[in-house]
Amino acid sequence: MEKEKFTFFEKNPEFYEEGFGYREIEQQVIFLNKIFSKNKCKKILDIACGHSPQGRLLAKKGYDISGIDLSESLLKLGKLRASQERVNVKFYKKDMSNFSLGKFDAAYILFSSILHLYKKEDLFSHFQSVNKNLKKGGLYIIDLSDLPFDSPFKPKEFKHLKGKLKTIINYSPKDIPNLTASFKQKSIFNGKIVNKEEFNVLMFIPLPLLFSLATSTGFEIKKLYSNFNFNHELNKNRPEYIAVLRKK
Ligand SMILES: C[S@@+](CC[C@H](N)C(=O)[O-])C[C@H]1O[C@@H](n2cnc3c(N)ncnc32)[C@H](O)[C@@H]1O
Repeated sequence: MEKEKFTFFEKNPEFYEEGFGYREIEQQVIFLNKIFSKNKCKKILDIACGHSPQGRLLAKKGYDISGIDLSESLLKLGKLRASQERVNVKFYKKDMSNFSLGKFDAAYILFSSILHLYKKEDLFSHFQSVNKNLKKGGLYIIDLSDLPFDSPFKPKEFKHLKGKLKTIINYSPKDIPNLTASFKQKSIFNGKIVNKEEFNVLMFIPLPLLFSLATSTGFEIKKLYSNFNFNHELNKNRPEYIAVLRKK
């Protein structure tokens, strides 16, 4: 069966950069840097990198960064920003559900981007691909610390305003047994709609599912954090976490 074409800010990637730039990118980079330096990881893969704001900061610290994404416009914006900032980040158009790029010391996927893999078979082949692209003992960091709802089973709307740019997100549960939801985003600049998208997402990855995906694809779970401040205390009533996996 042919895959439906996935698009993400294809015409106006700057509105993604601006509209979702409110995140604590520097704290994310401090977190990643601490784990990578402790584990002597140098060659790093940023999965679903977009314009790779974190990868560019890591490259400034001396890491060898490659990024993969499906959005040509965000990859192009990432290349432009990297050249403006005089850092070297390699950007590749690749589908994270099945890819081959080489052997890395570590990989990471931020901003809950793994939830784009809402079909269980894609999620499984993603874990297999990441494992194949890591050296033995390599790390995979999965950030699921930022989810777009209060309860995964209830609709939620978020609005974010930055200057003349308004970003609106609508999350709504779709197929609860399969944990899928619909995610709509709209960017309005100066009163005009400049980007509008709707796609399916996985609601979250329950810890038992993470364990089974990890163990069946050759990983072990090394650590779980609740946020980028190295807080280990997971809230058992919440689905958010950051997982650090290690290739066995
Ligand atoms: C929420 S954005 C995160 C971008 C970036 N990591 C950041 O922190 O700003 C999610 C990204 O996942 C990408 N994406 C979605 N499905 C993908 C797939 N199957 N393979 C590769 N990238 C994908 C989108 O194009 C988008 O850039």
